[in-house]
Amino acid sequence: SDKVRLALLGCGTVGTEVVRLLHEQSADLTARIGAPLELVGIAVRRPGRQRGSDIDPALFTTDALGLVKRDDVDVVIEVVGGIEPARSWLTEALRAGKSVVTANKALLAEDGATLHDAAAEGGADLYYEAAVAGAIPLLRPLRESLHGDRVTRVTGIVNGTTNFILSSMDATGAGFGEALDEATELGYAEADPTADVEGFDAAAKAAILASLAFHTRVTAADVFREGMTGVTAADMASAKEMGCTIKLLCIAQRGPDSAGTDSVSVRVHPAMIPRSHPLAGVGDAFNAVFVEAEAAGQLMFYGRGAGGTPTASAVLGDIVAAARNRLSGTRAPSESSYAHLPIRPIGES
Ligand code: NDP
Ligand code: HSE
Repeated sequence: SDKVRLALLGCGTVGTEVVRLLHEQSADLTARIGAPLELVGIAVRRPGRQRGSDIDPALFTTDALGLVKRDDVDVVIEVVGGIEPARSWLTEALRAGKSVVTANKALLAEDGATLHDAAAEGGADLYYEAAVAGAIPLLRPLRESLHGDRVTRVTGIVNGTTNFILSSMDATGAGFGEALDEATELGYAEADPTADVEGFDAAAKAAILASLAFHTRVTAADVFREGMTGVTAADMASAKEMGCTIKLLCIAQRGPDSAGTDSVSVRVHPAMIPRSHPLAGVGDAFNAVFVEAEAAGQLMFYGRGAGGTPTASAVLGDIVAAARNRLSGTRAPSESSYAHLPIRPIGES
């Protein structure tokens, strides 16, 4: 085919920026891919709603499944979120051999196996760099560059909203509610911000990171989770007095358990860290992730972890990869063969 045809599901904070970048960088993208990208439809809930960019109104539909099933669609981009109906749309697309690009960490962590199996069934590729740590190239390095090494631990700040709130509490003594409202206004928070503040979003990302780092299947249910709603202004003040700050950390480790069995433990919880620690200086909605591997040693990934534009950067990277691979007949690395390593109870690490 002389074009790569895209269907976009969702046009909110992230989707609007994806459309803007597709338009703005159209000539460069065509040159890089070797063929033009054509956006053939956009599924939303409310087609009449005012969007940030100047989008052809004829592209909008409320029939996401109909759009996914169109014969002329090559790549389905999902930036809606939630488990259903996203899972049904994406399994339909993958089984039909279409490439899928998604930012849906909740779905990947809850039931990634169904998506990977559908991809294997349809001979299709699944891309999701935007699902963890926004703009930071993190999943591709874990999946590809570090594939010859043995990753032992991944530690980091992977939720922008809670980092924004905790950084505001630390810097200005801002109240929790006020900082959350600002994070929502800036497009960092999930549609239901409970997912951010109660640690569900970070736990989903931790499950995805652990799966890729350790070549196993870790689901959200395997992750020990404690949110940050219990962190008070008094806690932050005490931490400061001790030369520390409080961050919501994700920690995923692989190694032998007490019986010597190779296993993983994954947890998300608020932690007090000394100001001298590199993660203490990670402010605003930035994310930072340390990866420790036997041969590579310690690596640090840092950048914008949330927001429409940084996330759209990662989505665009996946669209380019999907388009190139389709044109050259190359397959992306598959995770359908991952098996479960035992999950080690927290406290036994
Ligand atoms: P928004 O809530 O801003 O946008 C969601 C979009 O999905 C809206 O356009 C909405 O339509 C559309 N939508 C919702 N339900 C349906 C439906 N049933 N059928 C068709 N369209 C539907 O979310 P975000 O853009 O913030 O997030 C999208 C995804 O990206 C989520 O999975 C999120 O977790 C993930 N993500 C978000 C990041 C961020 O910083 N915001 C960062 C990384 C990942 P309408 O506009 O008409 O309401
Ligand atoms: N709500 C998420 C966050 C968006 O605050 O990190 C990015 O995944």
